[in-house]
Amino acid sequence: MTRKRILVTSALPYANGPLHLGHIAGAYLPADIFVRYARLQGDDVLYICGSDEHGVPITVTADREGISPQDVVDRYHAMNKEAFSRLGISFDNYSRTTLPVHHETAAEFFTTLNDKGLLIIRESEQYYSEASGRFLPDRYVEGTCPHCRREGARGDQCDHCGKWLAPGDLVDPVSKIDGSVPTLKKTKHWYLPMGALADEWKTWFDGIEWPENVRNYCLGWYNEGLGDRPITRDLHWGVKVPLPEAEGKVLYVWFDAPIGYVSSTKEWAEKSGDPDKWKEYWCDPATQMVHFIGKDNIVFHAILFPMMLKQMDTYIRPSAIPANEYLTIEGRKISTSQNYAIWLKDYLELFPADPLRYSLAANAPESKDTDFSWKQFQSRNNDELADILGNFINRTITFIHKYFDGRVPPVTDPDADDEAMLARVRESKEEMNELYRTFAVRRAVKAYMDLCRAANKYFNDKEPWKTRKSDPAVCGTTLAVCVAVARALAVLGSPIIPASCRKIAETLGMKPDFIWDDADSGALPAGSPVKTPEILFQKIEDDVIDREIEKLQTLAGGGSARKEASQGAGISIDDFRTIEMRTARVIEAQAVEGADKLLSVTVDIAGTARQIIAGIARSYAPADLIGKQVIVVTNLKPVKIRGHESNGMLLAVKSGESYSLLTTDSNTETGIRVE
Ligand code: 2FM
Ligand code: ZN
Repeated sequence: MTRKRILVTSALPYANGPLHLGHIAGAYLPADIFVRYARLQGDDVLYICGSDEHGVPITVTADREGISPQDVVDRYHAMNKEAFSRLGISFDNYSRTTLPVHHETAAEFFTTLNDKGLLIIRESEQYYSEASGRFLPDRYVEGTCPHCRREGARGDQCDHCGKWLAPGDLVDPVSKIDGSVPTLKKTKHWYLPMGALADEWKTWFDGIEWPENVRNYCLGWYNEGLGDRPITRDLHWGVKVPLPEAEGKVLYVWFDAPIGYVSSTKEWAEKSGDPDKWKEYWCDPATQMVHFIGKDNIVFHAILFPMMLKQMDTYIRPSAIPANEYLTIEGRKISTSQNYAIWLKDYLELFPADPLRYSLAANAPESKDTDFSWKQFQSRNNDELADILGNFINRTITFIHKYFDGRVPPVTDPDADDEAMLARVRESKEEMNELYRTFAVRRAVKAYMDLCRAANKYFNDKEPWKTRKSDPAVCGTTLAVCVAVARALAVLGSPIIPASCRKIAETLGMKPDFIWDDADSGALPAGSPVKTPEILFQKIEDDVIDREIEKLQTLAGGGSARKEASQGAGISIDDFRTIEMRTARVIEAQAVEGADKLLSVTVDIAGTARQIIAGIARSYAPADLIGKQVIVVTNLKPVKIRGHESNGMLLAVKSGESYSLLTTDSNTETGIRVE
């Protein structure tokens, strides 16, 4: 079989804030699962992403915080890159659109299109703030969408109905900078005549079987008429329009961002020592290009970017665009402005990556919006990963250690049950192959867990604890079959829960670079040693989950006091007093194994010692904490964090990624209440 060449991209996230679970469930985890599967198949797959560092979201954040756009993107690029890596998202390259290679590549796209005489220069009216003396492109203006009548639509697009908006379209527009009502002012811009390119685009588009949402959105836009779209903006942050007469103008972020996939591939090729290698992925029609995105990005990936690529003459266009719907959290829409979200880095402080990967994949918003709930997450971890998969692996390995000296027993005269179990593995492999290949992540997870269930049932039905005495050869065969199934589970599950499957493979003594076909290559040779089992999945206690739910409820404005406070009415002194804060002194501190941000800190409060797990390891060495006076919230419900009891909270302020502990102006006794 020939090796397929596949270029996979995930939408470049804006480097203007941290990643939350909604991001992950859509454009990143399903892509990573597909990429890991394709690598197991031996395909030549390249997985490309990076930070989208231009555009109004970045400059709005910079304006709000009073820092430069460069500071904003430096902060969030590093933060997001690290969070992706901790979640096991296995990009081959994670680039940035502020790099010179990107500016050069984006300018080259513009120049090629302009030199062809394709672009139209037109004077038009744009939103302008008289108060601030500047143009207000895109998200600098918000108002009511003229199509769906929802508030909060932005100058360039309505997130609710997905329609593209032109200046002047918004009802009741307001400037995001100064709250003024913008006027419309004339300015000159370069337009891409999408209407004129639409027929060729439609012929290409009709030749591919798209998912329903991509097809419907695109045909909707096409039928309305695509028109001429401005691809430049009056801004100082972005890729400069490469023309002397375009001083003070940059490329529209949606013109430059998808080119980020090209420049990230160029950066990867440069790093790999073969600078021209990027062309294999972008200019060879044998390459399959797949864009994983959220549904709000459909128009740009399925219409605008393919039109640009076509006009570049030598480039290929995508052959698949899995566009996810949205994830809600506990039944409510994620809102970054209201801080209603589960932030990936916060999750990773508390739990390992795989339970989240599994839980999000099992419930991926592939064709409709889906909901993430902490209780369901807990149940997927405890009742599925731990009780079904973890249990099967653990009982198999433990049994072999106890009764077969830690070595795989031989297969002797397999009976119908043994054959049926091995046939089941082959069927699951075929089924999951097809599901992974077609990006059907939810069903792949279900097929995987069904196989885990079948494995446990086989173990139970064969009752090896009885045959051990009555017929040791049969018992050995049962265990050898269980090992073969465990090997299949390590391979087939590895795109979804890579770290756990790596552990299973290690325990079984499999080579670390196993391939897809290792899933049904039969029993491991008799006599192969297996390592001692380790716990694959820690159960998550109710109190830990309750605390996370409570956090979200606080954000959702749960109690009346919180609501009043958020409406500016303030809280009463009684509300304030419900939180008990006391002085304390650190008497012991140590690292928490396996959690590089956590410290276990023991404090003395009026003669009583308490253990608190605090996420301050990157800011304080344990030795520096001993003797420090700190302030502790003493009436929080105790919780277990990474298996350790945490009884209270150290108060600290966070600046960037660094914590500074709160203390008192002069030393006091411990146990004194803050008032
Ligand atoms: O919606 C977003 O977060 C954009 N930054 C996605 C860009 S995708 C691509 F075009 F780069
Ligand atoms: Zn709308």
